[in-house]
Amino acid sequence: MAQLWGGRFTKETDKLVYNFNASISFDQKFYKQDIKGSMAHVKMLAKQGILTEDERDQILEGLEGILADVESGKLKITSEYEDIHSFVEANLIDRIGDAGKKLHTGRSRNDQVALDMKLYVRDEITEIDALVKEVLVTLEKIMEENIHTYMPGFTHLQKAQPITLAHHMGAYFEMFRRDRGRLADIYKRMNYCPLGSGALAGTTYPLDRAYTAELLGFDGPTLNSMDSVSDRDYVIELLSALSTIMMHLSRFSEEIIIWNTNEYQFVDIDDAYSTGSSIMPQKKNPDIAELVRGKTGRVYAALMSMLTTMKGIPLAYNKDMQEDKELTFDAIDTVKGCLALFNGMLSTMRFKKDRMENSAKNGFTNATDAADYLVGKGVPFRDAHGIVGRLVLYCIDKGISLDDMKLEEYKAISPVFEDDIYDAISMKNCVERRNTIGAPGADAMQAVIEQNKKYLQEN
Ligand code: ARG
Repeated sequence: MAQLWGGRFTKETDKLVYNFNASISFDQKFYKQDIKGSMAHVKMLAKQGILTEDERDQILEGLEGILADVESGKLKITSEYEDIHSFVEANLIDRIGDAGKKLHTGRSRNDQVALDMKLYVRDEITEIDALVKEVLVTLEKIMEENIHTYMPGFTHLQKAQPITLAHHMGAYFEMFRRDRGRLADIYKRMNYCPLGSGALAGTTYPLDRAYTAELLGFDGPTLNSMDSVSDRDYVIELLSALSTIMMHLSRFSEEIIIWNTNEYQFVDIDDAYSTGSSIMPQKKNPDIAELVRGKTGRVYAALMSMLTTMKGIPLAYNKDMQEDKELTFDAIDTVKGCLALFNGMLSTMRFKKDRMENSAKNGFTNATDAADYLVGKGVPFRDAHGIVGRLVLYCIDKGISLDDMKLEEYKAISPVFEDDIYDAISMKNCVERRNTIGAPGADAMQAVIEQNKKYLQEN
């Protein structure tokens, strides 16, 4: 057991207590951030005359050596250390002796861990953002290729009005674009450096907190040392943004699972992204989509867990906060894995355009347009709605669609109908005439695609 704080104790820590308390098994994940933070701290200490330049150089060289050796696998991070901070400090002292004992001057593990976690989250936000962007690039491509691919739009999972595949994909484009916006907001809000806050009340050393903040790429130092060591808002915000990403992926997965059924056959998932059954030879299951949908639960759980952990803890640092790590790491890894796999599945999926278009032709998706046709001829909308309702009933009874009805049959229900009704309710017109901003018509869609392309270039 290698601890940093044995001085005031007369007994060894109980083995179970040691294990219960230790965090090395998981906080080793941010060894890089821990070392980077220490380097900035040491540079600042030397600049302020708290360490000599020689001490600084020895420590920096030692830290660089540790980083390189951990990275090459020469130095193993083992459980004999309580946490990653103890591991780095003990190794530094082993390597360079007395100068290493000065590393922790003017610092507490409380501001150190707050810094490490921020640096880690910040790096991960950048990586997650890049993965979300890849999904957007895939969506944009599908949209461009399917401006005229007609399919039914649903409400209540009942056919509603015809749309296009480009329009449907465009809905997800909006969701994932907002997700990137959320990540950017979090990054901006959290980007203040807690280092130099000490245990909770700052330090008496003349630290230059603005300098360390700058060295580490922060927008400035945090402004209250108590808040600095006990703020995990940014973790909660990240978990909330990750939950929303998972919610979007899960909804999309659910649709793909439905579209992939034998009943729908709107899509064909590539063999590389499907699995089989051990007993039923014919099966090809959408396991990736199901797993993405399933894993949403554990990301939500991380958010709930973190909110609950934080709700009752008084200022400032409390050990409860060590619980932030495992669940945040798990949520981040889960989301990254899901985004990468989902994108692979989406970009290799085949869309069965004929099936989609045929499906849009059934189920009276043009009923609203028939009503709008009557409105165009001066019938008040509520009356038109009633007339078309009767048409639908008539068709259901005869097992035909609105397009199959003869003009006499139309006229028998309302004399207002003329020969131009067929044109008004054709699939093409139903879609292409919907050209208000955000609608599925090709002109409206093209305008959105141009904006999306510009966004992808600029962001
Ligand atoms: N492992 C601890 C954590 O993750 C580091 C901070 C420890 N500070 C302390 N006062 N015991 O929160």
